[in-house]
Amino acid sequence: MFPVHSRIASSDGNTSRVPVSSGCEGFNFRTFRWTQTMLFAINEINGRNDLLPNTDLGYVIYDSCFTISKAVEGTLTYLTGQDEAVPNYRCGTGAPLASLVGAGGSDLSIATARILGLYHFPQVSYSSTCSALKSKFQFPTFLRTIPNDDHQSTAMAQMVLHFGWTWVGTIAADDDYGKYGIKGFKEQVEEAGVCISFSEVLPKVSSPEAIQRIVQTVVESTAKIIVVFSSDVDLSPLIAELLQHNVTNRTWIASEAWVTSALINHPGVSSVLSGTLGFGVKRADIPGLQRHLLDLDPYDDGLTEEFWETLFNCTFSDKARWLNSTLPRAARGVPGGLCTGTESLAQLNNTYSDISQLRITYSVYKAVYAVAHALHNLEHCERGKGPFIGNSCADITDFEPWQLMYYLKNVRFKVPNTEEEIYFDDGDVEGFYDIINWQVNSNGEISYVTVGRYNGSAVPEDRMNINHHSIVWNNEMLKPPRSVCSENCQPGTRKGIRQGEPVCCFDCIPCADGEISNTTNARECILCSGDYWSNDANDACVPKIIEFLAFGEPLGITLIVISAFGALVTIGVGVVFIVHIGTPLVKANDALLSFSLLLSLVVTFLCAIVFLGEPQHWSCMTSQVALALGFALCLSSIMGKAAVLMLRAQALKTARTRARAAAKAAKAAVEAAADSGRPDVIITNTNNINDANTCANPEVDYLTCAHQRAIAAVATLIQVIACTVWLIILPPHPVKNTSAQNIKIILECDEGSVVFICCIFGYDILLALMAFIFAFIARKLEDHFSEAKSVTFGMLVFFIVWISFVPAYLSTRGKFMVAVQIFAILASSFGMLTCIFLPKCYVLLVKPERNTEEMMRPRARPRDGTWTGTSASLATAATEVNATIASTAIDD
Ligand code: TRP
Repeated sequence: MFPVHSRIASSDGNTSRVPVSSGCEGFNFRTFRWTQTMLFAINEINGRNDLLPNTDLGYVIYDSCFTISKAVEGTLTYLTGQDEAVPNYRCGTGAPLASLVGAGGSDLSIATARILGLYHFPQVSYSSTCSALKSKFQFPTFLRTIPNDDHQSTAMAQMVLHFGWTWVGTIAADDDYGKYGIKGFKEQVEEAGVCISFSEVLPKVSSPEAIQRIVQTVVESTAKIIVVFSSDVDLSPLIAELLQHNVTNRTWIASEAWVTSALINHPGVSSVLSGTLGFGVKRADIPGLQRHLLDLDPYDDGLTEEFWETLFNCTFSDKARWLNSTLPRAARGVPGGLCTGTESLAQLNNTYSDISQLRITYSVYKAVYAVAHALHNLEHCERGKGPFIGNSCADITDFEPWQLMYYLKNVRFKVPNTEEEIYFDDGDVEGFYDIINWQVNSNGEISYVTVGRYNGSAVPEDRMNINHHSIVWNNEMLKPPRSVCSENCQPGTRKGIRQGEPVCCFDCIPCADGEISNTTNARECILCSGDYWSNDANDACVPKIIEFLAFGEPLGITLIVISAFGALVTIGVGVVFIVHIGTPLVKANDALLSFSLLLSLVVTFLCAIVFLGEPQHWSCMTSQVALALGFALCLSSIMGKAAVLMLRAQALKTARTRARAAAKAAKAAVEAAADSGRPDVIITNTNNINDANTCANPEVDYLTCAHQRAIAAVATLIQVIACTVWLIILPPHPVKNTSAQNIKIILECDEGSVVFICCIFGYDILLALMAFIFAFIARKLEDHFSEAKSVTFGMLVFFIVWISFVPAYLSTRGKFMVAVQIFAILASSFGMLTCIFLPKCYVLLVKPERNTEEMMRPRARPRDGTWTGTSASLATAATEVNATIASTAIDD
């Protein structure tokens, strides 16, 4: 049974007449070759002496017309043994029926195998590959000489994976062959992570709209690889349409049914199909077949006649047919338009006579031989040693189909000329394929080049064997096309799924800062741990940059220079003070306090340097503590000074009030004495209030000096204690700050305890505030150097610097925080140094004439002509008063 025609003729739809079996149309030269091959094989076997020597094989040919109903009709007719099908009746006489070879496509074979199975009638198929047919339960008498499609689906899946295609389209014929084949393929590739871009089904009956839709899908899809499981008959309308739309740049993966089909591979198709890769079943040369094919007699039967008419595009008139069939070949001949029967087949380049790709043809040949060998074995059963009940044998002239089935199942033979051994393993043969590449040759035609093999019975690694160099891809490319929905995500990025799209379609999302991916197609980015951070490309974790304000860098050097300069200037001031130690000005400003002040400034200047460099345990402790103590000493000295200045200012105020009252009283007394003539009133020395702002007179000022020193000492001591406790309990220590800036590790000092540092520097601020308040109160105390004013001013500078420090500090990051801190320290130290010591140095060095006892005294400040002002004027007034009194007394 062969699908010699491609379809059944459409019925006229008239239901009022007796229905007749519809005719077939679309003569298929390729399948006709298969038919002829069966005849050739039967002839060959009948001519052999070693195979079925005493028995001749006969045959009936049924045309299944690629249609299930025709195949079923044929099967029933065959079983009936008449021209008409009478189910369940055997009307034929003569030789027993042996086996059905056929029926063509899998869907046809499935239909026929179900009927034949009922009668235990063997069927050997040469082309039905569908995996469903392997079920012995459903198809107990079905055998085939072509591999099961399970192998082909696996082979295709392996090929797709082999070339790294992850985005493929599939097209299947609308039959068991297409559906099962594509299903097997899809299952395997999808398991391996390949995505199916589209799955189309080719219509069985001509449907231009459906074909149009498929073309549209193919054009719109980005898949460059299209797998097609279909017979050539079903596929050819699509190929024609693709040619019209000039759909190029696709690589087609062909199943065995169309890989070597002339129906598809016709001239002009190369633009669409060049580069196609496909699987062809085993090929062989069959010696003598070509002769047989070319020797075909058109008058043999209706089929050969139709073949002839179709091939040569002529008709046999009834008369001519009768005439010619009676004549020997050489004498034939009829006028034009009609077939002569002498046309030369050899001159025509037709797929019928093309024996270059004998694949299914070879399968037909093997099928006939399998039946012949089974019959041979049946015939040569040794009596008494038979396989059937009672060791009986079957009779070749009258055997039951199931008896032949037994022999067919167990047949094992070598195919003539090829030495291929055939046996049925559960009805199937081994899965062997040639991998065929469609290459355009110099004539612009497509030739089939075998570029590899697939052997389904080998171990999985060795199954596929492809010679890459011999493959020519579409558009003459030398490297395999890429077929991916989305290009690989490079290291540094990760796959981001697209909602509602297959997993192969994704976006590549760059890893966030601090995260990396070091593989292609990473699903997640990995967070760099601890001391590591992502590099610019986000493909590796690199150690974070370690940051601290180093000694060597320009900013560090600048700060060192400035603080060294500050320290030197402070020391210079100290030297100037030592040189002028005896002078009134130095004496007037308690030298000890001045030196402690200078010392503290040197400390603060120098501790700025300790802030630089990589923080160590010692440097963290030293810098913070030295700064706290330096400031404490400095500020407490200033505060002591200011406190005493304030006290003195207050004392002066009370003294002045008292003196003014005394003077008033004296004046009144003098006037009264003058009036009364009693000059015995003597006003004694009022000088003791004049020298109040110096420590020059220990007897007088001992208390004040001691006071300010004591204040300074106590205030500093408190800080010393606080710092000691701090250092013991929670000392500052170096830490790696990784949180402030992602890409850097900032080496810094941790204060140990926020409470402590607040207390300690809060205490410094408190001292500063007190110093400021005291000095502010005392600022009206008029001496020549306005000590209180300079202290006020110095403290103001101090406050301004530290208040502006806060926002500056908070808005910087990393090592610049240290720089800001150092700047604040240096600025406040310079501020205090300048405000407190610059005026004094100016006098000591530039205006030594002002450095007198006199100048150290509070100045007179006349106000509205009355008794106001300083003690000096008060003294003068008192002296005057005395003198007046005295003179008055003398006058008296
Ligand atoms: N393997 C196909 C099936 O099982 C039949 C087939 C093989 C075929 N080769 C072919 C059909 C060539 C048409 C043409 O259905």
